[in-house]
Amino acid sequence: MNEGAPVRTQGPAGSSGTIMERSSPGRRASAFAPLDVPELPVPAEHARQAAPALPEVAEIDLVRHYTMLSQRNYGVDTGPYPLGSCTMKYNPKVAETVAAFPGFQRAHPLQPDHTMQGTLEMLWRLEQALCEITGMARATLQPPAGACGEMTGLLIMRAFHSDERDTRSSGPSRTTVLIPDAAHGTNPASVRLAGFEAVSVPSDGRGLVDVEALRGLVDERVAGLMLTNPNTLGLFEERIEEITGLLHEAGGLVYYDGANLNAIMGKTRPGDMGFDIVHINTHKTFATPHGGGGPGAGPVGVAERLIDYLPSPIVARDDDGALRWDRDRPRSIGRLHGFNGNIAVLVRAYAYVFGHGGDGLTEVSELAALNANYLAARLRSAFPLAYPDAPPMHEFVATAGRSKRQTGIRAMDIAKRVIDLGYHPSTVYFPLVVDEAMMIEPTETESKQTLDNMAEAFLQAAEEARTDPSLLREAPVTTPVRRLDEAKAARRLKLRWGDVEPPD
Ligand SMILES: Cc1ncc(COP(=O)(O)O)c(C=O)c1O
Repeated sequence: MNEGAPVRTQGPAGSSGTIMERSSPGRRASAFAPLDVPELPVPAEHARQAAPALPEVAEIDLVRHYTMLSQRNYGVDTGPYPLGSCTMKYNPKVAETVAAFPGFQRAHPLQPDHTMQGTLEMLWRLEQALCEITGMARATLQPPAGACGEMTGLLIMRAFHSDERDTRSSGPSRTTVLIPDAAHGTNPASVRLAGFEAVSVPSDGRGLVDVEALRGLVDERVAGLMLTNPNTLGLFEERIEEITGLLHEAGGLVYYDGANLNAIMGKTRPGDMGFDIVHINTHKTFATPHGGGGPGAGPVGVAERLIDYLPSPIVARDDDGALRWDRDRPRSIGRLHGFNGNIAVLVRAYAYVFGHGGDGLTEVSELAALNANYLAARLRSAFPLAYPDAPPMHEFVATAGRSKRQTGIRAMDIAKRVIDLGYHPSTVYFPLVVDEAMMIEPTETESKQTLDNMAEAFLQAAEEARTDPSLLREAPVTTPVRRLDEAKAARRLKLRWGDVEPPD
């Protein structure tokens, strides 16, 4: 094979375009046998006025179109995906096999509990395992994503304080939630959605929470603090017990954003650090491809005193050992998702957790940190760590600031160039507190050989920034689409064929 040359997707030229553009009147992807019973008209009240605008294509066109699209995609099954904060790790195929078991896949959410004992047992054991991993008392498996887990946790926080207030005779309402300035954007968004005001806590010179500044912000109006640990710079909060203690002394709760749980499994637990509420992104830490908005699962674990507020229903075990959905929970915050959550995602998490076992999960975290530190060391000469005074854990934030100053080539240009070199880029420009941030999370599943090859691509891009900057400004040139207007792509979605440009 021609090393380094871009590999073209197979297929004839002109096979691009949307499925609607392949449409031709009268073509069909399926053929039914002729009717052998009398044809009855659809009752007028159920008949459509106009046929839906569906593509009319033959089966072969349909298969080729979607296969061609899939080949244009970059995914963890085709190469490493070092997108920091997202934990795009390889998902073992055994989890897919287990999720496809007919007993799980064909179950109906309205089936009576006594016919669902296998699924309920799986959910019960998964909940117990997640509580063991996080140090929590009980958990809901209902939220479909990390962000929804955040919302769930904050509503629990609100319900708890509202009950507390009912038993207090005086004192202001708790209306604010503290969030470090490096936090993921979903944190402040969830805080607002849950009816609180978000207050930013500054980071110190080492990239950790500025504990003295935090002390000044904690008062009787604070409902709680949301914290990611290791934080979004990949650094472990060394004064974590002091931080959680500060909040508790003031009557607040402490929320653990578990997006980075994959760094600490088997080493320490949010519950042991003093957290009251934890969400887990099963689609990051355990098995399930993460991306495209889901489906995922964001189970939320809570300390003993918050169990009553968990969403309803939760699984309960009766004295005879039978399992059932417990819906009789008067203090619950209610439902966060239809039926019982994304069960197929939870089956994958179950397969991953029990497939690895306790020692295996500990090893996962050790390897995640080892890989990140190895790659950080390989890239240091071109892209130094933004906060070099604390060791990174499972991911690290480097900066392309020097490249920008010396050559005008920015983190975004580097990211686009590594696409042409065959790799998915890192996250760029997050966290916002870092100039020209490149947030890199190799994950534990990549081999040393893959890490070395990936490092070479990033270092080559850094070298080209000096020798041939126009190459980087024009990149990517090997992809079906060139540089997109990222703000427009995110804000002005055109999701349907024929969508018109929305007005400004
Ligand atoms: C630190 C952090 N918190 C929260 C989230 C939100 O999780 P989800 O994408 O599952 O909604 C993410 C997602 O990447 C994250 O990195």
